[in-house]
Amino acid sequence: MQVISFMAIKGGVGKTTMAFQFAKFLQTQDQKVLMIDLDAQKSLTGTFENEHFNFSGKPTIADVLEKPSSGLIETQVQDNIAIIPSTSNLEEVADRLASKPNRELLLFMWFVKNAQELNQKYDYIIIDLPPAWNLLSKNGVAVADKIISPMEPSRFGYESHTKVLQSVGTLQDEVVDPVSGKSYITANVFFLGNRIKHNTNSSHEFLSALKHIDNVIGVIPEKELVNASMLAKEGILEYATQNDKLHEQEPFLKLLSDVFSEIQKQGND
Ligand SMILES: Nc1ncnc2c1ncn2[C@@H]1O[C@H](COP(=O)(O)OP(=O)(O)OP(=O)(O)O)[C@@H](O)[C@H]1O
Ligand SMILES: [Mg+2]
Repeated sequence: MQVISFMAIKGGVGKTTMAFQFAKFLQTQDQKVLMIDLDAQKSLTGTFENEHFNFSGKPTIADVLEKPSSGLIETQVQDNIAIIPSTSNLEEVADRLASKPNRELLLFMWFVKNAQELNQKYDYIIIDLPPAWNLLSKNGVAVADKIISPMEPSRFGYESHTKVLQSVGTLQDEVVDPVSGKSYITANVFFLGNRIKHNTNSSHEFLSALKHIDNVIGVIPEKELVNASMLAKEGILEYATQNDKLHEQEPFLKLLSDVFSEIQKQGND
């Protein structure tokens, strides 16, 4: 089992989109996925809601953080995809938890408690984080094997790469086992260029800047297909199939599937 968190300290760069589309890609490979929404905006949660179904009354990630000794409480939403949804009062819950000892390790404790069952049930756990460096993101980073950080071609997009590395590095130094001196934070950080516009100055500059940073896993263009499939709450491949765009979008679909395969493979050795 692999735990992959989608993180950026910036909003709107594609964390939720890439987390969801990566899960849909894994679904086509018959991999079993558990998704966790750690963002109070509930974007990922909403992607699985429709006129016939919502998560009201279902357990949420707030229940896990408030009681890390609880068992598995996910909701199965599709074949091979289950989710622990978010809740709009997640920030308030996090504020209340801020005075607890080991507050960055609440999700970690739940993972340890349920390790055997999670390992048996799932091939991947995919976590969507909020656009801020707070207790919720720290909990999502603490359990991750890999962090995928989408970056956009803007002035702040490139700078955000340093911010992500510094934040994870600081947490690594802080959350240390007192006996062994080892950090609980073991994730490797990978970057993903996203929303690259064709032939614009900012995109050209961004692409050359990307060459100077380590661990860039791929580059995804700005495509209306991505946006449209998210609005339809569908995987890009199924959306393209249903809308007769398979042929026209073949190069893009191939690129996306290569990027997702790379996310699967990176850091596994
Ligand atoms: N490659 C892409 N091409 C076109 N649109 C994209 C692409 N990636 C993401 N988007 C669109 O960008 C918007 C923001 O994406 P998303 O919600 O995934 O960002 P986020 O980082 O999760 O934002 P937040 O910080 O608010 O959680 C969405 O409307 C999404 O459809
Ligand atoms: Mg999001």
